Amino acid sequence: MSLILPGSSIGILGGGQLARMLSLAATPMGYKVIVLDPDPNCPAASVCDEVIAAKFDDVIALEKLASLCDVVTLEFENVPASGLAILEAKVPLRPSAKVLEIARNRILEKQFLNDIGVETAPWAAVRVMDDLEPAIGLVGLPAILKIATMGYDGKGQTKVTTLEEAQAAFSRFGMDCVLEGLVAFNLEISVIVARSSRGEVRAFVPFENAHANGILDVTTIPANIAEPLTRVAEKMALEIAAKLEVIGLLTIEMFVTKDASVLVNELAPRPHNSGHLTIEACPTSQFEQAIRAVCGLKLGNITPHNSGAMVNLLGDLWQNAVPNWNAAFELPNTHLHLYGKLEARAGRKMGHITVLGESVQEARDAALKAREALNS
Ligand SMILES: Nc1ncnc2c1ncn2[C@@H]1O[C@H](COP(=O)(O)OP(=O)(O)OP(=O)(O)O)[C@@H](O)[C@H]1O
Ligand SMILES: [Mg+2]
Repeated sequence: MSLILPGSSIGILGGGQLARMLSLAATPMGYKVIVLDPDPNCPAASVCDEVIAAKFDDVIALEKLASLCDVVTLEFENVPASGLAILEAKVPLRPSAKVLEIARNRILEKQFLNDIGVETAPWAAVRVMDDLEPAIGLVGLPAILKIATMGYDGKGQTKVTTLEEAQAAFSRFGMDCVLEGLVAFNLEISVIVARSSRGEVRAFVPFENAHANGILDVTTIPANIAEPLTRVAEKMALEIAAKLEVIGLLTIEMFVTKDASVLVNELAPRPHNSGHLTIEACPTSQFEQAIRAVCGLKLGNITPHNSGAMVNLLGDLWQNAVPNWNAAFELPNTHLHLYGKLEARAGRKMGHITVLGESVQEARDAALKAREALNS
């Protein structure tokens, strides 16, 4: 009943780069892809079968998507609950509205994690100004104030060192927030788990993530952590996915602390920027695995071929001139991915480069060199 075979249609909520790469995985497998996005020229538009250009709360558009598709998945979890309900009444939504409700709200997410015994940074919900003082009492200072919903790429969060700073930030955000203790982490990792509609689960090896200005900058595999810690992270990720009853992908962002414990930062119920290198580094990419999971197919092999590194290409690279693509291609191991975005704003994710290598250092050096070559 839950097996969705090639020839069927897959709907995707959101048409950005994640939807583009999902479509680039699904189409060769024989699926039709229909994307819902407000922008008819979104990154997925040129590689999918149809774009329904409408807002995520457009009832008629959601009903159309549901009627055209055999399953709906997503690249964007912030679709209003009323819209998700319209979809779920007519078509399997994977991951489900229940999962999305938790994963898109930092308060519900952290509560869920702590309830199942998973450790996070110390945190407190801040819904009104008077919540701030007790929150600081619990979490300490300095801390990070984050908006509870809609944050991404470090947007909607700020470090605060005094009560006054926290108050100013809270009134600037003007919405529910969480106050989080600052974690002195050794490194950041992410584990992407696929869980299929037939209950099969697999976790990609942990990826190591380095951020710059709150935005993911470089991802490398394997992560520089000892084997037992890898097992801990994988086990934790599989358990979270099982307890959430996710069907599809669940990315778990984690901090590895200086005393080698693992804390969960946040969950993303979809493919993740840190998993882009799986396109080249693993026999089955995160995107193909997502399609397999939501369609009830057997999950693919994901043992990495090699070490690898991915560097993001932000709009900043376009500030002085069009990047020198040819210089990057002169380096023969460079895999370039561009998302087809017309406007290169600073901080906007425009593409990425992946390089595989015999060691992490070799792959990272080569990927960074390729990115530098773009501005030569
Ligand atoms: N409590 C914390 N202690 C230390 N660093 C933190 C903490 N929370 C966030 N950070 C840093 O800021 C980055 C972004 O935070 P977070 O993942 O919460 O935000 P986001 O906007 O959802 O980002 P993204 O879209 O990249 O996942 C983290 O990856 C980490 O580097
Ligand atoms: Mg994050």
